[in-house]
Amino acid sequence: MENKITINSLSSEHTMNIGKMISQIVPNGTTILLCGDLGAGKTTLVRGIAQGLNIKEVVQSPTFNIMKIYFKGDRPLIHIDAYRLADNDADIGLDEYIGYETGITVIEWPQFIEKLLPEELIKISIFNVNENERNIIIETNLGINLEEIK
Ligand SMILES: Nc1ncnc2c1ncn2[C@@H]1O[C@H](COP(=O)(O)OP(=O)(O)OP(=O)(O)O)[C@@H](O)[C@H]1O
Ligand SMILES: [Mg+2]
Repeated sequence: MENKITINSLSSEHTMNIGKMISQIVPNGTTILLCGDLGAGKTTLVRGIAQGLNIKEVVQSPTFNIMKIYFKGDRPLIHIDAYRLADNDADIGLDEYIGYETGITVIEWPQFIEKLLPEELIKISIFNVNENERNIIIETNLGINLEEIK
């Protein structure tokens, strides 16, 4: 994707702030993919998005739930963690919540539900640099100005 920026994050607060800024510029119905190693900071970034939407609930890794929906913010946030769907063709109706028209959908480990992903999306990849440093690449085929995030 040509619309692309790279940000170096030096703390989890910085990553949360990036999430906050993203929450302010994405239109409803947007799907955001979160890629990166275990513990890279995907859920941390979702926490920032939730904060930006004025969601007061604590966002946790949906360890036992594949999906959690937060309705009490400015607009709905749908948080999917597809990690446990690896190698499993389970049809559990997630497609209803991807591209959810009045909200934002974020998906950790999207590679495990590839068939359900829409064509228009934002892809965020987080790479570990060292203990507190992450390289965050944000790319999209949506016509939004990613430079506003920096
Ligand atoms: N710059 C940074 N950005 C994000 N997280 C950071 C950063 N520096 C340190 N951390 C720490 O890295 C950890 C990231 O955990 P988090 O649960 O967000 O990762 P994850 O990618 O969702 O993991 P999982 O693959 O298990 O879902 C947290 O403990 C966080 O405090
Ligand atoms: Mg996580």
